[in-house]
Amino acid sequence: MMKRNRIFLSPPHLGHLEAKNVSSAFSSNWISTTGPFINEFEKKIARYCQRKDACVVQSGTAAIHLAIRVLGISEGDTVLCQSFTFIGSCNPVIYERANLIFIDSENETWNMCPNSLRNALEDCRKRKIKPRAIIVVHLYGMPAKMDEILSIANEYKVDVIEDAAEALGSKLNNKPCGSFGRLSILSFNGNKIITTSGGGALVSNNSNDIDEANFLSTQAKENKPFYEHKKTGYNYKLSNILASIGVAQLKVLDDRVNKRRKNYMFYYELLKGIKGVTFLKEPKGYFSNRWLTCIIIDEKACGTSVNRIISEFEEEGIETRRLWKPMHMQPIFKNNPFYGNGVSNLLFEQGICLPSGSNMGDDDKRRIKLKLTKIFSIK
Ligand SMILES: Cc1ncc(COP(=O)(O)O)c(C=O)c1O
Repeated sequence: MMKRNRIFLSPPHLGHLEAKNVSSAFSSNWISTTGPFINEFEKKIARYCQRKDACVVQSGTAAIHLAIRVLGISEGDTVLCQSFTFIGSCNPVIYERANLIFIDSENETWNMCPNSLRNALEDCRKRKIKPRAIIVVHLYGMPAKMDEILSIANEYKVDVIEDAAEALGSKLNNKPCGSFGRLSILSFNGNKIITTSGGGALVSNNSNDIDEANFLSTQAKENKPFYEHKKTGYNYKLSNILASIGVAQLKVLDDRVNKRRKNYMFYYELLKGIKGVTFLKEPKGYFSNRWLTCIIIDEKACGTSVNRIISEFEEEGIETRRLWKPMHMQPIFKNNPFYGNGVSNLLFEQGICLPSGSNMGDDDKRRIKLKLTKIFSIK
């Protein structure tokens, strides 16, 4: 029997220009952490996010770590973070030995619930704790309720770090994700909407913040004719080779967004009539890059379970995945405070991410459709 190719959840999607740029970085001999592609990538990524400045680094997690350091967050400080996310959003807070409080999601965007955020901030106020930052995430590409969150953050005078790792190309009322809050981060990991193999960026309108991030990302070397250090820095800067891939990928970003949005429509048209299956819709003014298409399964209503769907796909060599397990449900955070109503618990229990690559071909879609038709007994 012919072995079929595996369909991945969100594979990298590279073209000829990426290879050409890498080759050009090689022949120029700018292969390390300085070079023309780094400058170009930083300029273009900042412009895309409608920000003044950018610092490109080796991962989104490194970008969050730099944001935490730039804000001066250290041992004993308190940071509020969306619970429904990937652990990269909050690990850097732990690196600095600060305290994490987790905030639940709301049902409309699956992101930080403004009411739970307010409850947490009120409690902090009563306990005379002044949180140092709020980390808000646009999960699966859907923008969070930024108007409300920014206004609450402003009221309580707390800085916002926008985790737009999954949301490059998404917009809220025509403003791009990556443009909200004091500092925003992006990820160019292999599974993201555009990739540099691994990589990330910190963007901001505050040039001092980005200057400090650049300084920390290159070992915090003082401006002296010898190596002098007053602070702890990191070796986080992106290489010119990887930045050259990013420059090429940025050119096709809008095309990648279109393709992922078409994937969403493919699933939506196929499953919209199935009882017990729900999609994450775009509220008015919201534009999602549809990084991953996710569905929620009400087991009783549709007569099948999340586990069964995942294993049925697996039999056919098709990768699907559960939604992120919220941070407040993680053993490592079992003692951290959490404010919420169980929204993210339910999303984790009932959700599935479906294959969403921008290079998913017609044959892949035929195989997926066949499987879904069988699972949901579609006539
Ligand atoms: C929401 C979110 N935040 C942060 C990260 C961390 O990015 P990276 O993997 O580039 O470190 C990721 C993804 O990988 C993510 O999905």
